[in-house]
Amino acid sequence: MAIRFPPGFLWGAATASYQIEGGWRDDGKGESIWDRFSHTPGKVQDGDTGDVADDHYHRWQSDIELMKDLGLNAYRFSTSWPRVLPNGYGKVEPRGLDFYSRLVDGLLDAGVQPWITLYHWDLPQALEDRGGWPSRETAFRFAEYAEVMARRLGDRVKNWITLNEPFVAAALGYYYGIHAPGRTSGEDAAAATHHLLLGHGYAAPVIRRDSAGSQVGITLNYSPMHPATDSEEDHFAAQIHDAFVQRVYLDPLAGRPYPHEALATRGFRMDMAQGDDMTRIATPIDFLGLNNYSRDVVAAGREVWGEPSPDDGVARTEMGWEVYPQSIYEMLMRVAREYPFKALYVTENGAAFPDRVGPDGQVDDPRRVAFLRDYISQAGRALAEGAPLKGYFVWSLLDNFEWAFGLSKRFGLYYVDYGTLARIPKSSAKWYRRVIAENAVAGA
Ligand code: FCB
Repeated sequence: MAIRFPPGFLWGAATASYQIEGGWRDDGKGESIWDRFSHTPGKVQDGDTGDVADDHYHRWQSDIELMKDLGLNAYRFSTSWPRVLPNGYGKVEPRGLDFYSRLVDGLLDAGVQPWITLYHWDLPQALEDRGGWPSRETAFRFAEYAEVMARRLGDRVKNWITLNEPFVAAALGYYYGIHAPGRTSGEDAAAATHHLLLGHGYAAPVIRRDSAGSQVGITLNYSPMHPATDSEEDHFAAQIHDAFVQRVYLDPLAGRPYPHEALATRGFRMDMAQGDDMTRIATPIDFLGLNNYSRDVVAAGREVWGEPSPDDGVARTEMGWEVYPQSIYEMLMRVAREYPFKALYVTENGAAFPDRVGPDGQVDDPRRVAFLRDYISQAGRALAEGAPLKGYFVWSLLDNFEWAFGLSKRFGLYYVDYGTLARIPKSSAKWYRRVIAENAVAGA
C-alpha cells in the first residue's frame, strides 16, 4: 500500500561542511577543531581527513545538478564557521562568505530551498584554544557568527538551524573524546552542553531579526530508549539515558528546567546557568529538527552511548546500528505528545552499507532502499496520527567523511569514488527521485 504525504511536504537531503567540502585551507579558511583532530595521528580511522573529502568546495555546481536530478525540494547543508571567521570572531573572510552566497544563489536557481545549519561541529580551532564550548564566551561568539551569516544570506535563506546535535558535540567531543576536540571531562561536557544551548538561545533572535520572515530551529539527535529487559533496573537505566541524551536538550528548549535528578545519578551537575540563561535558551523556535537512525537498547550498567548492543541477530547497518524503522515513529509521537513544538522536521535519516560499484558501473543498494522505504513509511504513519511533521531529509546526498570512521562508511544516495571524486547515483537515488515526484512511498 502506498503511503501518501500531504501537499507541500518537504523532501530533502542533508550534508555538513566538514564532511563534504574539502578545501580546508582554501581562500583564507581558518583551522577547525576537525582539521586539528583529523591531522592528529590515531584519531580517525585509516588516518583519513576532510582535507579533500568530496571536494564539494570546488564541485558545488555539479552537485547542485545532482540535486536537480533528484528533484529535491530542499537541501540542508552547514556553513563552516572558520571559513567565514578564520579566528572565530572579528575579521570576516569575504571569500568564504562569497562561497556560501554563490551556493545559495545556485540552489535557488535550481528550485531547491537552502536550509542552513550554522554549527555542524567544525568549531574554529582558535576558539577551542580559548576554551571551546565549555567556555561561556563561545556562546556569544556563536551569536556573532550567526549575525554575519544572517546579514549576508538572510535575504535569500529562509530556513535556519542553529546547531546540529548538541549532544554529540558536547558528549563525544568533550566527555568520550572520540570526536574533536577529543577532551574527556564530565565537567567540560556539562559546561559545553549549557553553552551550546545558550549560543542557540542568543543566535535565534539575531537570525530572525536579520532574515525577515525566516523559520529558525535547532536539530537534536533522537533514539527511543528501550529497556533491555522488563526489569525495574533496566527501565530506570533507559529513563536515565533518555534524560542524559535527550531531555537535557528538549526540556530547556521547551522552557523546563534541566532534568537535574536524572543527571545527578551519573554525577552530572548542570549548575552553570546565570541570570536569564534559561529564558534565553527557551526562546521560541519555529520548528524542531530531529535526526533519527535507530533505537538504543539500554541495560543497567551498560548505558554508555555508542556502545554496540549485544549480538542478538537483528539486522544492523554498517555502523552497527539496529535497523528499527519504528524508531522514527516512536520519536515523532513522543516529541509531539510531550513537547509544545509547532512543527517537526526529520533533518537526518539514512544508513551506511558497504556499497560497491558493479561490473556495469552501477551501484545497487537494495538494503538502503528498504531502509528508507520502511523509515519513511513509519514517519508517514506518525504524520497520519497527528505528529506535526513537515518534511524529511535523507542523510546523505553524497558518501562523505563520517567523522571518526573517516571515509569508510557510505551514507550517500550518490556513491563517491574517492580516487576520481566521480559521483554515481545509487539505486536509492533513483528510488528517492520517485518518492519525491509522487509525494508517496510504496509500502513493502
Ligand atoms: C549524525 C551526524 C551526521 C552524520 C550521521 C551519520 O549524528 O549529524 O553528520 O555523521 O550521524
